[in-house]
Amino acid sequence: MKVLVTRELPKHTQNRLEKQDLELIQWKKDCTIPRDTLLNWVKGVDAIICLLTDKIDKELLDHAGPQLKVVATVSIGYDHCDITELRARNIQIGYTPDCLTDATADLTLLLVLAASRCFKEGIRAAENGEWREWRPNWLLGSQFSGKTLGVIGLGRIGQAVAKRLKAFGITRILYHGRSQKPQAESELGAEFSSFDNLLKESDYITVCCALTPETQNLFDYVAFSKMKSTAVFVNTARGGIVKQDDLVRALDEKLIAAVGLDVTTPEPLPTDHKLYQFNNCIILPHVASATEETREKMASMALDNVLAAVQGQRIPYGV
Ligand code: DGY
Repeated sequence: MKVLVTRELPKHTQNRLEKQDLELIQWKKDCTIPRDTLLNWVKGVDAIICLLTDKIDKELLDHAGPQLKVVATVSIGYDHCDITELRARNIQIGYTPDCLTDATADLTLLLVLAASRCFKEGIRAAENGEWREWRPNWLLGSQFSGKTLGVIGLGRIGQAVAKRLKAFGITRILYHGRSQKPQAESELGAEFSSFDNLLKESDYITVCCALTPETQNLFDYVAFSKMKSTAVFVNTARGGIVKQDDLVRALDEKLIAAVGLDVTTPEPLPTDHKLYQFNNCIILPHVASATEETREKMASMALDNVLAAVQGQRIPYGV
């Protein structure tokens, strides 16, 4: 069985991969595999372990050929995979649910805290010599006590974010998504809300949903205009959920107070992008799941998916 892996995996899973009785084709440079190399190497493989940066579309599947049994992405998001096309060809689709919930929720919280407490401006000021005497009206942020959190997508990650923020004093949790979550509602005291109402009522808004045709550009100028001028907006899901030029305009016009982003369009976001210029916009390089434990587990789940598929079995972590 021939397996294509588009990057070197975390240590333990890489060792496990190399011990398998598989013909391994692996891109080991620390950069995305060039598209033409990917199209070339994919010919005749039975399985692919890919990353969210590899586009799995009709062209790639045509190059791979009909023997392809599984595409296992080392990510929870699978918006880079053409699911309709994969299903039509009976190719199993593996992803990595659950294992990155804690890491992603932790980083979301970090961004909420950092954005709401003027973290970027404070660090810059300390480093640039703008730190003068203690001043009562300098770098004032907002605190969580008695405030409302709005979660877009109350899935596993959204719930973990809400749980953490409750511990910080949030008293009301609104959520919006495709479906109501009665269990999460009773566990967290969360209330299902229309999108508009959530925008108007929330002090903190975290985006925790998948990128789909319905959520693409969900946060546009109109949405930002409906938010409180004191609102803090954090996106750790996918850049495509935000209409980025509209976010720039919203920050320019001070429609909202602060922003934390772990995801942008494109990635990497060019260093001369306007978003970097705002003191109240913190940008991280898509690292929400970047802990040793989580990345190892993600890779391991992808490998388990491939091993099951090449043995003709149903994969354990299928979309
Ligand atoms: C995912 O898995 O989809 C995250 O965006 C990266 O870990």
